[in-house]
Amino acid sequence: MSAQSRLVRTALAGLVLCGLAGRATAGADLVAFPTDFAEGVRYATVERGSIREEIFTSRKVLEAARTGRPLPSGTVITLVDYRDGKLFRYVVMEKRTGWGADYPPEKRNGEWEFQAFNADGSVNSRETLDRCFGCHRGQALQDFVFTLDRMRSAR
Ligand code: HEC
Repeated sequence: MSAQSRLVRTALAGLVLCGLAGRATAGADLVAFPTDFAEGVRYATVERGSIREEIFTSRKVLEAARTGRPLPSGTVITLVDYRDGKLFRYVVMEKRTGWGADYPPEKRNGEWEFQAFNADGSVNSRETLDRCFGCHRGQALQDFVFTLDRMRSAR
């Protein structure tokens, strides 16, 4: 192999590696911990046995839902998960224009990304985020959101 073709091969291998690494982490890393979620509105509370979920989003998002408009780019929905009365974790979904384009159609949830955070706000890197995509996909007709009706009727 000539030095030149070896160089080309190395460069190509590097591109492939970067591409894969980018795809593996770019998604969920886009979602930052929503430090200001409590300044929004708690529009739904779900209780199931020892689990209590409080779900928050901004007034702007609720206004869009109420008037039947698509949830805007920049929408953040924060679900605060309590177990036996104690803060257990946060799960967050966020939507921005252009997000999700790298996902295969069978995985993609529109422009949404998902992330799970521990009670201290750090990323829960043990969470399998494919589960989020898999389950929320079933809500495709409601912009991938289970509680869209609750948003529409929130005040
Ligand atoms: C097995 C199905 C399932 C999986 C897996 C799942 N969710 Fe959900 N999610 C729900 C349901 C159902 C709700 C509505 C609230 C409820 O009933 O608990 C919900 C609600 C939410 C909400 C509030 C907005 C909405 O859709 O109502 C967020 C945010 C959320 N989930 C994020 C996540 C994240 C992040 C993950 C992965 C770490 C995840 N979910 C995994 C079923 C699922």
